[in-house]
Amino acid sequence: MVEPTPSSAAPVPTRGDRPVEPTIFEKHSPGACALTLPALDVDETPVPAALMGDAPNLPTISMPQVIRHYTHLSQRNFSIDGEFYPLGSCTMKHNPRINEWAAGLPGLTSIHPLQDDEDVQGALKLLYETRTFLESVAGLHEASLQPAAGAHGEFTALKVIHAYYKANGQERRTKVLAPDTAHGTNPASCAMCGASVIAVKTKNGYTDTDDLQRIIDEEGADTIMAFMITNPNTAGLFDKEISRIADIIHKAGAKLYLDGANMNAILGKTRPGDFGADAMHYNTHKTFSTPHGCGGPGAGPIVVTKELAPFLPSPQVVKRDDDSYALDFDRPQSIGRVRAFFGQFGVLVRCWTYIRACGAEGLEEVAELAVLSANYLAARLRDRYDVLYFSPEDKRYCAHEFVTVPRALLDKGVKLNDIAKRLIDYGVHPPTMHWPVHDCLMVEPTETEPLSMLDRFVDAMRAIADEIDCDPASLAKAPLEATVRRVDVVGADRHPRVVFEG
Ligand SMILES: Cc1ncc(COP(=O)(O)O)c(C=O)c1O
Repeated sequence: MVEPTPSSAAPVPTRGDRPVEPTIFEKHSPGACALTLPALDVDETPVPAALMGDAPNLPTISMPQVIRHYTHLSQRNFSIDGEFYPLGSCTMKHNPRINEWAAGLPGLTSIHPLQDDEDVQGALKLLYETRTFLESVAGLHEASLQPAAGAHGEFTALKVIHAYYKANGQERRTKVLAPDTAHGTNPASCAMCGASVIAVKTKNGYTDTDDLQRIIDEEGADTIMAFMITNPNTAGLFDKEISRIADIIHKAGAKLYLDGANMNAILGKTRPGDFGADAMHYNTHKTFSTPHGCGGPGAGPIVVTKELAPFLPSPQVVKRDDDSYALDFDRPQSIGRVRAFFGQFGVLVRCWTYIRACGAEGLEEVAELAVLSANYLAARLRDRYDVLYFSPEDKRYCAHEFVTVPRALLDKGVKLNDIAKRLIDYGVHPPTMHWPVHDCLMVEPTETEPLSMLDRFVDAMRAIADEIDCDPASLAKAPLEATVRRVDVVGADRHPRVVFEG
């Protein structure tokens, strides 16, 4: 139910903490108009009556009111531009504004995707360079920039691998293996490609290679298409057995697919091609600071070995012998297009800008800082929040993120959700919850936070632990300071209307 607009006489909080922001429809003001269109300077062509319906019932509202409406809404939003957002695996990091500047340059925004190659040499050069940067960071042969998100990259690469096996008379290879901690998009992408997925056990956070071998033997090596692995994985662990895993997979005649979502932890330190990957995707939002695609429209470029390259999507951006750039459609074994035109051009411009701005050394520093920040937090929190697989005494560190199961605090009667919600009161977005294991928080600070912010987060987490020691029940209604308090999460999932408590 929409609550009534406060009467004009009532005091109203001045910023984003207004209890209710009426919808723009409720602000309808007959006769008001937010913009004036220029006078018509061409002959009017009436729309045929058969195509006309009832006019949509849109509100009219003046420009200042429109601006205030959306400004109020944006002030209520929790965002990386306003707050710390340590969302494990999903990586919310600062997007440098130079990316936006580059993507907004008129020479890039006003071109048409169907212009002749000769007219858009600059744009093609940018795409080609992005391609080659991604190939060299991966240590693999050829990239496709078409996929519009990490998940779309997984789907596209599996299609490429499938096409490769089909061309080689091995269509029996339809099974994909993935660790039981895999990101949900991994099995989903397999299903979209018509492949079946088999979960491989993990031991202490790592792939259990005995279970991997057992499954291959039981299922039959010649039915296995690929093993999909995220490395470093979502528990923040880099699997040092990865080359051995690659050997096991290659011995079975299958391909090793790297979910490259966590490349920000290993940029310039190691290359997937060097540890045995045959194909991989990047999530440009997580590694190269672009807006997140969430299935699209972002960018999830893939990179593959030479033997898989002929099957990549078409067209491919290429550099000709005369140093000009072109779109190559002559790729007879290609799986075809997976995205209109050449992919998400504006996002790829941001990706190129970030890579150019960092340079090779800067990218390596990104990895170092991401890993250092996560280890700093884990080390400072572990006496109050058990950090899984983390033990500096035994030289067991985390990569860019870590997982805590705060059992001792949960045993005092609070729910994980209470801790997460209380963090909002401290100005921190809750970390990812209940994945890869139940009752865990997955924390990823990223490389873009200063030490002072990391310390503030530690202070907040420790203060919450102290609150639980004193009065666990006090967290049950958190957040206490936010505009929107507890939402009915089950109701929100099952019904489109959200019910507010408190
Ligand atoms: C490990 C992992 N794999 C795959 C994805 C899917 O990527 P996207 O959201 O870009 O489709 C994500 C999400 O960021 C992820 O964390």
